[in-house]
Amino acid sequence: MAASKDAEKKIAALREKIRHHEYLYYVLDRPEISDFEFDKLMQELQQLEAEHPSLITPDSPTQRVGGKPREGFVKVRHSSPMLSLDNTYSEEDLRDWERRVHELSGRKDVDYVCELKLDGMSLSLGYDDGQLVRGVTRGDGTTGEDVTLNVRTVRSVPLSIPEDKLKHAGIPADFEVRGELLMPKAAFKKLNEERERNGLATFANPRNFTAGTVRQLDASITAQRRLDFFAYMLLQNGHTYFDRHWKTLDALEAAGFKVNSHRKLVRSMEEVWSFIQQWEEKRESLPYEIDGIVVKVDRTSLQDELGFTGKAPRWAIAYKYAARGGITKLENVRWQVGRTGKLTPVAELSPVAIGGTTVRNATLHNVDEIERLGVKIGDYVQVERGGDVIPKVSKVVEDKDHPRGTKEIDIPEKCPVCGTKVVRTEGEVDYRCVNANCPAKLLGTILHFASRGVMNIDGMGESLVTQLIERGLVKNVADIYDLSKKDLLSLERFADKSAQNILDEIENSKTLPLERVIYGLGIRFVGERTAQFLGEHFGSMEALEDASVEELQDVNEVGPRIAESIVEFFGNPANRKLVERLGQAGLAFKGKKKERGTKLAGKTFVLTGTLAHYTRDEAKKMIEDAGGKVTGSVSKKTDYVVAGTDAGSKLDKAKELGLAVIDEREMEKLAG
Ligand code: IVH
Repeated sequence: MAASKDAEKKIAALREKIRHHEYLYYVLDRPEISDFEFDKLMQELQQLEAEHPSLITPDSPTQRVGGKPREGFVKVRHSSPMLSLDNTYSEEDLRDWERRVHELSGRKDVDYVCELKLDGMSLSLGYDDGQLVRGVTRGDGTTGEDVTLNVRTVRSVPLSIPEDKLKHAGIPADFEVRGELLMPKAAFKKLNEERERNGLATFANPRNFTAGTVRQLDASITAQRRLDFFAYMLLQNGHTYFDRHWKTLDALEAAGFKVNSHRKLVRSMEEVWSFIQQWEEKRESLPYEIDGIVVKVDRTSLQDELGFTGKAPRWAIAYKYAARGGITKLENVRWQVGRTGKLTPVAELSPVAIGGTTVRNATLHNVDEIERLGVKIGDYVQVERGGDVIPKVSKVVEDKDHPRGTKEIDIPEKCPVCGTKVVRTEGEVDYRCVNANCPAKLLGTILHFASRGVMNIDGMGESLVTQLIERGLVKNVADIYDLSKKDLLSLERFADKSAQNILDEIENSKTLPLERVIYGLGIRFVGERTAQFLGEHFGSMEALEDASVEELQDVNEVGPRIAESIVEFFGNPANRKLVERLGQAGLAFKGKKKERGTKLAGKTFVLTGTLAHYTRDEAKKMIEDAGGKVTGSVSKKTDYVVAGTDAGSKLDKAKELGLAVIDEREMEKLAG
């Protein structure tokens, strides 16, 4: 008993310490310890909690990611509507708004609060007894979706707030906070690049990425994507709690919420206007995107008097910064080949000055976008540039000064760089070059091949690879294994020792297992995990090369899309030749074929609902180890549906189709 009391104390102290450092890092952006030290504290807590599972509480810092993937979101009604704001674009409109505020309130001495208009999505957080119990999206303003498990993974959202802290901030124990959920520019850039590398569709802006992230059914994905939350409203039973908005912001900050520090309490429109102008210039330097300034009447009593029109309050207004844009002529379209072979149409423009720089190129995204815009060569187009995003064509302009162009934009049949026939897989927007040796794809392909999780050739980074490509020393990944010391010494900044290091690294990579080589080939849709399954299933590169679409689909997690991509890859003679050379160089082409059980061979399972004794991954592994296959959707081909509690539509469908529905006990028995 004494031991457990001891553990309880230790756990409580550790949690407090971790929460404090989370607050310093994620709310104040002012860490005091290194990531390493922080991770150590977390591990210590995890260890203690593992030894004393009864002491785990939902607000423990270890419990941000928890629960199993869900099948959908529950709709929740808001305590009071989540409104939007009316927009203005000029100083004049702003003055008009002030005039209305004066008229309706019958007073002229009105205080305003200026805040940044953060370009994310609004979110409501419910706290009961200081504990986060609910996170809900705005939805249609009246009802939103319950995204609590996802929101719990956002580190700047407190999971619980101690009573004395709330008291000190003057906030009641049960309350609602509203604010903006967003993805910082840096995270957006990094994640999008990663998606691009993996052949996934990219997001146009951080706001869309945020929305896609918070609505992930599997909250562990949300956790990896580093969202941030800024609080700007405090409600109790749907009503504003403090008598002044300025107080609300301070109180939220005192309670440990992240509140944007770029805010100002002002007495006049002059001051509002100067705040607006000041931020128009500085907005680029912020780590997140803003699209304007929000001006709010400070006094709650005045807010109530002013009330609402339709969907927006009369007591607040958004001043939107104009998208930096201009009109210019579309001279031509060229097709750029990215690292994954994706062809992107790039508009070549008559040079136009936008926001201090001359723009000559803008993206047209893809063929669907070209169709949507209805754009032709010779058209005048509106071009916009925002933040550090690439300029884009936003619409075709047509009036008497801007006649329409007439030349259709051709979609290339061949890769503009290497001449290989381009491919558009059914159901996809993008055209791609599938030639692994295409020079345009080379840099990305080689960097992927040499990177840490793949062939782990330390030192083979962008500057070295660029030089190797420029000198013609490397035209594909197999050429890496023909490099000599003389080749390396001919490059900039290479001495005997550094050249030898690289050669040693290259030699070492030959000891890495088959699945790494498969992953390194950069076959579309074949990530680390799939490569591992492929290696285990086929046991050799040769067997994989000769597998048919049907055979490939016997592999865990491989569906028609991945199978076709693999067959397409090996169907290209240049790719075959490349693989052959890798084999000759001595890379691992044989692996251990994983002997899987046969009890469930040929049987397909679908898991649904929450299982009591297994996580999804554990259950899946059990079935797969016994030779079975787990898929995501119920069809006539499904043999068993394993249903846990709260099973939803999949269970309904299984019943409809008359499939065998079993529980986890029966699953255990079947798997032996
Ligand atoms: S106040 C009724 N403050 O802008 C009050 N909104 O266009 C409505 N937004 O849906 C919200 N920054 O998602 C407020 N500092 C800020 C904001 C902000 C961004 C968003 C919010 C809202 C949208 C309205």
